[in-house]
Formats: sequence, C-alpha cells, structure tokens
Amino acid sequence: MRLTYCLLRSISKRNLLKSVRVQGINFGFGDENQRLTNSRKCVIVEYSSPNIAKPFHVGHLRSTILGNFIANLYERLGWKVVRLNYLGDWGTQFGLLAVGFQRYGNEEELQADPLHHLFQIYVKINADVVDEKKEGKTMTHQAGMDAFRKMEQGDQELLKIWQRFKDISIAEYSKLYKKKKEEEAHHSSDIEGYSSQGMWSHPGSSVDCTCQVATHPSPVSHRLGVTFTEYHSESMYNKDAMSVTDRLKETGMLQTDSEGKGYIQIETEKGIPDRVNVLKSDGTTLYITRDIAAILDRQKTFNFDKIHYVVENAQHMHFCHLCGVMNRFPGWKNRLNEDIHIKFGRIEGISTRKGNVVFLKDVLDEATTRIKASILSKKSTKIEGVDIDAVAEELGKSAIIIQDLGQRRIKNYKFSWDRIMYSTKLQYCHARLCSIERNSGLNLEEDFHDDALTTNNQAGELISHLIKFEDIIQESFDTLEPYFIVRYLDQLCDHVNSAYRTCHVKNTDPSVGQAYLQMFHASKIILSNGMILLGLHPLERM
Ligand code: ARG
Repeated sequence: MRLTYCLLRSISKRNLLKSVRVQGINFGFGDENQRLTNSRKCVIVEYSSPNIAKPFHVGHLRSTILGNFIANLYERLGWKVVRLNYLGDWGTQFGLLAVGFQRYGNEEELQADPLHHLFQIYVKINADVVDEKKEGKTMTHQAGMDAFRKMEQGDQELLKIWQRFKDISIAEYSKLYKKKKEEEAHHSSDIEGYSSQGMWSHPGSSVDCTCQVATHPSPVSHRLGVTFTEYHSESMYNKDAMSVTDRLKETGMLQTDSEGKGYIQIETEKGIPDRVNVLKSDGTTLYITRDIAAILDRQKTFNFDKIHYVVENAQHMHFCHLCGVMNRFPGWKNRLNEDIHIKFGRIEGISTRKGNVVFLKDVLDEATTRIKASILSKKSTKIEGVDIDAVAEELGKSAIIIQDLGQRRIKNYKFSWDRIMYSTKLQYCHARLCSIERNSGLNLEEDFHDDALTTNNQAGELISHLIKFEDIIQESFDTLEPYFIVRYLDQLCDHVNSAYRTCHVKNTDPSVGQAYLQMFHASKIILSNGMILLGLHPLERM
C-alpha cells in the first residue's frame, strides 16, 4: 500500500472528512506545493485529430474521450496543458479526392449534404483505384499522386478545391464540437460559422514561444464537453516538412534508395535497425515527415517537457518510427520514448439505426433518445423542475464516456446499447447525494464526533473506500489509465447505496445525523472530482 494510504489510515475519520470538505475540488490531487512544482512543467496532449472529408469515426471518438481525460488529469495535478487537435488535411489521399471531385462531384448534391457527398466521392474514387489494381493498372492512383505533388508545389486550382473540402469539413466539426443547444441556436449558420470558434481558423499562424494555456474553461465546448487550446493541421507543415528534409540531407541523415525514395536509418527502442521513408520518389512528403516538422515546431512554440499522442493501436509503428528519427536529431537524443504514444484498442459493434458508418453525432443522438425514453417510461420519474432533455443529453454523453473509459484502454471492446442505462450509475448516485444534502435540514459547518462512523459497518466501509481516492489518482496517472478511476467510482456508488439504507441523516439523533451528512458530503465531493476528471458534468437533480 502507498504511504498516503497508510498515513491516512492513522488519522481519524473526522479529519479525513474535514480535509475533503476543506480541499473541495482539489482533494485527491496532491498538496498545494506539489501542484506549484508541477505548474512549471508543460505537457502537450494531442487528441481527437480527425481528418477532413471523412467521417469522424469511432477511433476519433475514443481518442477524444481518452485524450480529454489525460489532459484533465495533468491539469488537476497542476501541470500546464496544451490540448491540441491536429487536423488530418494533407497527403496523397487529398490529391486523390480532388481527382474524385473532378470525376464524380455534383454541385447540387454538395450543397444539399456536403460531408456526405464528399464521403461518397471518397469511397468511389478509392474503389476505382482498387478495381484498376486488380487489372494491373494504376491510372487513378497515379492521377492522385500527381495532383498531390501539384498541391505541394502550390497549384492554385487544386488548392481551391481542397480548401472547399476543408471548409465543409470544419463547418461540420464546429457543429459537433458545440453543445446541442448551441447547435440548435446556430442552426442557420453556414460554412463561415467555424471561424468564430477559433477552430483551425488560422492555419500557419505562429504562436508565442511560451506554453500557451487557456485558463479554464477552454474556448470551445463540445457536445462531449471536450475542449482544445490549439487547433493545428497537417497542411500547416507542408513547407516545414520540405525544409526538414533539406536539413536532414545536410546532416547526412537522409539517404536515397535506388527508386529515389528518401529515408532515414533508425534503431527502435529495442535496438532493432529499421528504415523510415520520409520522401516519396516524386519528392512529396509523407505523414511522418509532417509529424517530424510538427514536433520540432511544438518544441519551439511550447517548450514542452512531455508530449502524448492519443492515437489508436494501429499507428504503433508510426510512433516508434517518429521516436527513432527524433532520437537521431541533434539535441533530441533519449528525449522521447515510445510512451509518447497513448495507444488504445478498437470499439467493436457500434452502429446506429442509420447504419454502420458511424458519425459521432448519430451515436450521441441515439444514446440521448434511448435514455429519454427509458426515463419517461419509469413511473417513479419526477419531471417537474427538471429539464428532461438536458438531463437525457448529459446522461447519454455520460453513458458513452463511462462505457469507453471503463475498459482498459489497450483492449478492443464491444459497444453495447444495452449497457447504456447501466452506465449512468454515477450520475444517479451523485444526484442522490445532492438530494440527501438538500433535504437534510442540517448545517455542514457544524461539528460532530465520529462514534457513529465507527459503529456502523456500512459507514466504516464507505469511509475506508474514500481514503483510497488519492492512491487511485496516482495509479491512474502512472499508467495513464482511466479504468482504475471508473472502477473506483463504481465501487464508491455501491458503498454509498449500502450506507444510504442504514445511515439516516434525518429523524435521528442530530449528532449522528451530522456525522452521516459529513460522510455523504465527502462522498459527493470525491465522486464529483472523479467524474469531472473523466469528462462528465455531475448532475444535481434528475
Ligand atoms: N488524423 C490521423 C488519423 O485520423 C491521426 C493523427 C494522429 N496524430 C499525429 N500527430 N500523427 O489517423
């Protein structure tokens, strides 16, 4: 057991409850001095990072939820946190999409349902490439490569088409990143709407050389309640990627193979030699070339101490390569290790009534609808004084987040609509704790003694559980694994529910009622601190 746990065990239950009450939102996140020391350190957490002209898929959903949790955790522990969303808007596939647009684009369809139409084009043009390949042909593939090469060289016509894809996609994301209410209020807003959000609105703009951290709350609210302080994109590094390869040439790191591809020889963390391609034979850059340019720029801009990329398991090799290349850069030796990649597994079996291509918006809508129906079907539901739509929206979001963070991140997991209602347990428990407090008729400032807390078994067990919170936070930080917190909070709710049956706050001796009230109050603070960390907004009534 950790030291804090042993120390806390020896202090009285009364002191524990008092210290939770006094520290409030800071309880569990170390003392002020530790947070002050941490505040001199800067971490970049890159998450969400969708691509333009393609749906925001479930991998991005997981990255968004998990990345937000990791950023929250660092922030609560005192660190300066750069929350970075890196838009995928550059690369051969956008050359291919421009070719697809010339071949299959239709103005009317584009106006009617822009993102859907772009996605159709994307599917069709990729199918052409596959069909030709079967016949040993490569015309379409080659046309896409040529278009991308021209884009990198600054072809105005192609860049105009690309800019349109980008505007359409960003407009769509701006709706998603807003809360539902805001979305309805701005329903008439069109493509220009995104710029007011600060989302990817200034590609290429340079930022201060200090760690830029928004004082929370951060600028953009997401339907998932997720925020970012920086919106960068791959296309920002188009030119830098070229100059990086020039620098690599000068230092002798860049070698060229017989086909004209530029590559760097590296050693992986396990000491295995490997080769990383950074330039195609036609001189265009690759995904990794832009990541090299990006990390160098991030270092200059934010002078970070740590960086995390929250990206699915499938990109494991990509980040091994990035580490391998950076370790050969002057001044970067041994700075990065493969922990920069916060990996996670796939979500399986998530599909909505609309079909298998999952748009995040549909998932959220469906969760909310199911939950609302379930609330309304319960006879016990009291609707007066409660905004049922707002509650259902929050519960829908909570259920999706809990289902996701309640799994070890590395594992693939099966999404289940049936578990959605179960996943709202934390919210119900929090609302119950708030109602105990509201209805107690007692004053939290009054003193009490711990006898009742020692003699009642359920109270004893609940308090022993409360003591562990700090250790759980530490364990979760050491592993960047939210699962420990979800499991802990789930057990906390079980303890609260058992204690609720025997520990009466009202109609009992006031000194006993007072002790129980303090216990439930501390439980509420700890539950709320944990929930906020996970990205939930604890409900007071429902
Ligand atoms: N946009 C990429 C994708 O959807 C993820 C970007 C990950 N971040 C990075 N720096 N490479 O696959």
